[in-house]
Amino acid sequence: MKSFFEQKVVIITGSSMGIGKSLALYLGKQKAHVVLNARNAERLLATEIELKEAGCSVVRFVGDITNEKECDRLIQKTIDSFGKIDILVNNAGVSMRGKLEHLSPGLISTIFNINTIAPIILTKKALPYIEQTKGSIVFISSLAALRGLPVISIYSAAKMALTAISQSLRFETKPHGIHVGLVYVGITKIEKDKTALDANGKTLVLDERKGIFTESMPNVAKGISLNIEYRKKQSIIGFSGKVYYFLIKFFPRLMDVIIHRSQKKVDTLSK
Ligand SMILES: NC(=O)c1ccc[n+]([C@@H]2O[C@H](COP(=O)([O-])OP(=O)(O)OC[C@H]3O[C@@H](n4cnc5c(N)ncnc54)[C@H](OP(=O)(O)O)[C@@H]3O)[C@@H](O)[C@H]2O)c1
Repeated sequence: MKSFFEQKVVIITGSSMGIGKSLALYLGKQKAHVVLNARNAERLLATEIELKEAGCSVVRFVGDITNEKECDRLIQKTIDSFGKIDILVNNAGVSMRGKLEHLSPGLISTIFNINTIAPIILTKKALPYIEQTKGSIVFISSLAALRGLPVISIYSAAKMALTAISQSLRFETKPHGIHVGLVYVGITKIEKDKTALDANGKTLVLDERKGIFTESMPNVAKGISLNIEYRKKQSIIGFSGKVYYFLIKFFPRLMDVIIHRSQKKVDTLSK
């Protein structure tokens, strides 16, 4: 049977590692043409080689999507390579650690730029092409967008903004038959080299994260692909994500208590 993704052209921002890479592999294996993107040229090349060896049709674009001109080049590279855009996955994102009182103004703008402004600008530039294919635009969000959380306040706020953007865009693009999806990703296993930014914007390498309540990258990739294929407005990935969503929605006070209690652990993280 023909895969839904066969011959579809997909841009995945931030796809040299983590969820973006896993999604690229998942869609590539289903015969999509994938445009990879990230800033680190060496790592992106290694990812391209790995995916080609797995039989995927991929091209790579090295560029920082917080730079508007690089967004133009990313779109142009996609059109030059494959002639159309069916799907844009706004995946690139960076988290942070630090209490609001300690955050530098630079860190605040960096977090908004990568998690909110860049996806908005890239989406705006991809829209005319996605209108032609009646394709999909997907925003990768986080459970942190359901409730403002301690030590990741700006990340929570930046991801919350994506909720509003996806809702507005859904109304605006309805006449053009475009799907706008929002995917809330839960706690995912952390692979080697995953980073976040500290209160001053310096890179922090995060500890490995595993355990039964963490989602595997391939599961997250599958969840995102289902959002696209079934043109869902919203998806919450994984069992623990769904439980968290349910508790936040129906037991907000209980969740406040739990979040307060976790504050001690969080305080340690922010140091
Ligand atoms: N992992 C989780 O537990 C989790 C949970 C909830 C939500 N999410 C969301 O899921 C998405 C992916 O997360 P992840 O954990 O897979 O991240 P990750 O492993 O840290 O990978 C981030 C990717 O984005 C790229 N990137 C970062 N800044 C960029 C920029 N300015 N321009 C272009 N590419 C950029 C990185 O490569 P370069 O550094 O080379 O640019 C890398 O390829 C993010 O939006 C994140 O907020 C993740």
